[in-house]
Amino acid sequence: MSLKHVVKTALTLGQGVAKGLPEAADDADPIELFKEWFQAAQDSGILLPESMALATATPDGEPSVRMVLLKKVDREGFVFYTNYGSKKAHDLDANPRAAVCFHWAVLQRQVRVSGSVERTSREESEAYFRTRPRGSRIGAWASRQSEPLPDRSELERRVKEYQERFPGEEVPLPPFWGGYRIRPVRIEFWQGRADRLHDRLVFHAEGGGWRSERLYP
Ligand SMILES: Cc1cc2nc3c(=O)[nH]c(=O)nc-3n(C[C@H](O)[C@H](O)[C@H](O)COP(=O)(O)O)c2cc1C
Repeated sequence: MSLKHVVKTALTLGQGVAKGLPEAADDADPIELFKEWFQAAQDSGILLPESMALATATPDGEPSVRMVLLKKVDREGFVFYTNYGSKKAHDLDANPRAAVCFHWAVLQRQVRVSGSVERTSREESEAYFRTRPRGSRIGAWASRQSEPLPDRSELERRVKEYQERFPGEEVPLPPFWGGYRIRPVRIEFWQGRADRLHDRLVFHAEGGGWRSERLYP
């Protein structure tokens, strides 16, 4: 966070950085608005502005939520990466719908996104995997995410095993690892305002475009 933001936030109990949401025009684009807000979150200097709470549910409605990192956002959707054997992946494979929530406290902003979920292509996952540091790529091979781990030394043994299996820079994408893309059907922007009279602007996907409406706070 810049010094200016720190001072302004402290002096105004967090309200000084809040700006109201304009009325949405008919052709307003929530992906563009998300990108603007995400850029502002990155510029504010907060740690991991790309972190988001990801909610999934089993087919019989048992919910589950955990943090993941947004790695890409565009008109196609919101992409994160994970282990395809994990609890979240089991949920998503059986019930391919998800919701994510971002909270950028210093900006008094929240964004909620929900939609249907699909796996990214192998090529797309490979392209992203190549950008990860070697340690993270080895870690992806070593971790049987969400399965019981008898003790820490077992994980360390597996890390060593894969370091020896892939001694060079080349660490391929594990077959059980890759991305998911959330194709949004609803995106809600929440801007904190004075006296809890917050702005909420929600966009619904409709007929290839978006319909927006305001909600009471
Ligand atoms: C800030 C933060 C970011 C995280 N990012 C990811 C991520 O991008 N992908 C992932 O698989 N787990 C990530 N994790 C770990 C998950 O929260 C979770 O522990 C793990 O994915 C297993 O979840 P599951 O058992 O529900 O599948 C992150 C955790 C934190 C705290």
